[in-house]
Amino acid sequence: MSNGRVTTTFFREAKKDGRMITMLTAYDYLMASLVEKAGIDAILVGDSLGNVVLGYSSTIPVTMDDMIHHIKAVTRGVSRAMVVGDMPFMSYHLSMEESLKNAGRILQEGGAQAVKLEGGREVTDVVRKIVAAGIPVMGHIGLTPQSVNQIGGYKVQGKEEAAAKKLIADAKALEEAGVFAIVLELVPLQLARMITEQINVPTIGIGAGPYCSGQILVTHDLLGMYGGNKPKFVKYYANLNQDIIKALQSYCEEVRHGSFPAPEHCFNMPEDVLSKL
Ligand code: KIV
Repeated sequence: MSNGRVTTTFFREAKKDGRMITMLTAYDYLMASLVEKAGIDAILVGDSLGNVVLGYSSTIPVTMDDMIHHIKAVTRGVSRAMVVGDMPFMSYHLSMEESLKNAGRILQEGGAQAVKLEGGREVTDVVRKIVAAGIPVMGHIGLTPQSVNQIGGYKVQGKEEAAAKKLIADAKALEEAGVFAIVLELVPLQLARMITEQINVPTIGIGAGPYCSGQILVTHDLLGMYGGNKPKFVKYYANLNQDIIKALQSYCEEVRHGSFPAPEHCFNMPEDVLSKL
């Protein structure tokens, strides 16, 4: 940590000392400050912003400007946790110059301390370039939602021998390119363990079992803010979907019946002023 802020050194030492790293997503000031108060080590402003906040059916429509807007809101609510900003679809593919410029915006305009990008060996050149500019990069392999159209859906990755070997090679290539940590998304727990044991940088799992160096979830998922089916890898720590709907229904009922606002929610005019009106 420097000035009390979680840094890449914290990540490295946590893995060396066998301390689990905690990470969650946030997309706005209020949620970021709540997550920070809970004592989280790092906050990802994920491009899951697209699904969770912007109502898209995938992360693909999310733009750099969307990301910067939300990263700025998050960094205003955080002083200890490391803030990692996701590089959205096509923001690190067109040219080295464009990729570097976009990574720079996430730190310079957004105020984040690191960026995350998806992919294995195919992104190591761009990782090297961004790291060489002094920007910490977090890798992301396994299920990479920006490639959902190529992968053919949101499903567990690396279950076959060739795919598993490719993920191990990708993790090693990312480490060699200079990432400070790697997100492993939706991979079998045995493969996540193997990758974690074969590289020196920490792995952060989501749907990757307990043998990673840390865990991340989408905060809205663990708070149970969605109705509908719960993904297998998510645990609900609250049921805010039902709690919020109930609270909002009570408000509607009380307004309709005139029981809100009650006297304690109202302001009185001073009697002497009132008498003159
Ligand atoms: O965008 C995101 O929230 C992510 C996490 C699920 C790792 O990439």
